[in-house]
Amino acid sequence: MDLQHLFRPDLKDLTAYQVNAVSHQIKLDANESPFDLPDPIRQQISDTISKLSFHHYPDTTADQLRGTLARYLNVPEDWLVIGNGSDELLAYLAQIFGRQKAAVLFPTPTFSMYRIFAQTAGIPTIGLPLNDSFDLNASLWQQTLDRQQRNLVFFAYPNNPTGNLYDAGVVGDILSRRDTLVVMDEAYYEFSGQTFLEQFTDHKNLVITRTFSKAYGLASLRCGYLVAHPDLINEINKIRLPYNLNQFTQICATIALQHRDLIASAVAAILRGREQIYESLGKIDGIHPFPTEANFVLFRTQKPADLVHTSLIDQGILIRHFGASGPLANCLRVTIGTDSQNQRFLPAIRQALR
Ligand SMILES: Cc1ncc(COP(=O)(O)O)c(C=O)c1O
Repeated sequence: MDLQHLFRPDLKDLTAYQVNAVSHQIKLDANESPFDLPDPIRQQISDTISKLSFHHYPDTTADQLRGTLARYLNVPEDWLVIGNGSDELLAYLAQIFGRQKAAVLFPTPTFSMYRIFAQTAGIPTIGLPLNDSFDLNASLWQQTLDRQQRNLVFFAYPNNPTGNLYDAGVVGDILSRRDTLVVMDEAYYEFSGQTFLEQFTDHKNLVITRTFSKAYGLASLRCGYLVAHPDLINEINKIRLPYNLNQFTQICATIALQHRDLIASAVAAILRGREQIYESLGKIDGIHPFPTEANFVLFRTQKPADLVHTSLIDQGILIRHFGASGPLANCLRVTIGTDSQNQRFLPAIRQALR
């Protein structure tokens, strides 16, 4: 029996999220932290877990974690919602957004999930090309936003995979529009130190999302948070799955937040590695690295990038490849690793270019 006629035709061409299952010794393809949890955090988690009861549902509003986050961010608790990864929260934004005469807009290239979240919510998407410096074209944005009655805009800040921050003035002008909800996805905030958090006083239509998957080294747990005006939080809570965040994750994220000094040392080490990788790549003939504010570096190779990518895999190193055409033609993205991983990556990339 053919089941296709039972399903939504507009989802027919979507494909499931693919993860590269290539075997490797060093994984630098997914912008994860190269550092596993520091011992004091691990110890406190073990002690807490040993007293945990597993037979009750978790706290549906993750109050302890929200309270800890609220104090850290200096925002009221009712401005926060926690998700199973920031992905979950970004998807909810597309789901609560009005559909009449609406569009979801994002720059291209950017994080691929924005398009998918909009498509699954049934809202038309518009990808607006970034300029040669991977920044926003202000007039193109304003003209395109004028065409709809309501716009949902996703800005990764810094952007993935280009690594840069957009011109804050251009973003500010978009934020000043009454017809537009602006999502600043600050998944890499801890590496850039730049945030729109202070802009809430002037802009009720601002949404900020962040994650524990990158700087905090908790990608396996799936935990992210969203900050917005309580009117928007209330809409999300209407559709949020009950118990979306398991108790183990709530506890681990709360404990990690209490040890921000340890997380800050990991971030500092990553920033030192970033400097070194960026500078070293810039000195290699046939490579052009792009400036970055995140925990990864995008670079273009003169040699076809698929050959460089394959040679690195043969040498046990997995990085991210973006295909042969479009604005990221011959581009590769490497996540900053530990010192020893970075020291293995640099000779390997030189070898791959031969
Ligand atoms: C820009 C951006 N936003 C969101 C995410 C998803 O983060 P999470 O693990 O919190 O779902 C990623 C993951 O790579 C990302 O690059």
